[in-house]
Amino acid sequence: MLRPHELAILKNAGRQTPHGQALRRHWLPVLAASEVAEPDGPPVEVRVLNEALILFRDSSGRLGALDSYCPHEGASLKWGTNAEGGLACFIHGWKFDVEGNRVDSGAVHMRQVRTTSFPATAAGGRVWVYLGNPEVMPPAPR
Ligand code: FES
Repeated sequence: MLRPHELAILKNAGRQTPHGQALRRHWLPVLAASEVAEPDGPPVEVRVLNEALILFRDSSGRLGALDSYCPHEGASLKWGTNAEGGLACFIHGWKFDVEGNRVDSGAVHMRQVRTTSFPATAAGGRVWVYLGNPEVMPPAPR
């Protein structure tokens, strides 16, 4: 169990802080796997290392971890609809797959829009995410 000052250090470990950079070199447990066990189940928002993430499991059972805020106008994706291969924003319907690609049938010139996604995996009853540099990502937990 973390003490309050230890928890505050973790919550405020932004990308530019030395401890934030050190912690981003590791896979981090962020959620019980049972909370995103169902394909097309409701998305879950978590906050870790000063980042807001949305976790969801798509129709194929793949785990996704996206930036919590829609790249269109910043609505929270925690209110989105998870169905048919992606998570759709509740405001204008932009839909993103687990890799952050826009996959709805919106205007052609806007289909290249992506949102930030992070590697995610389930192991040991937990969902783990990696928030660091993909070029030096360690092996995923098993
Ligand atoms: S704010 Fe998300 S689609 Fe417009």
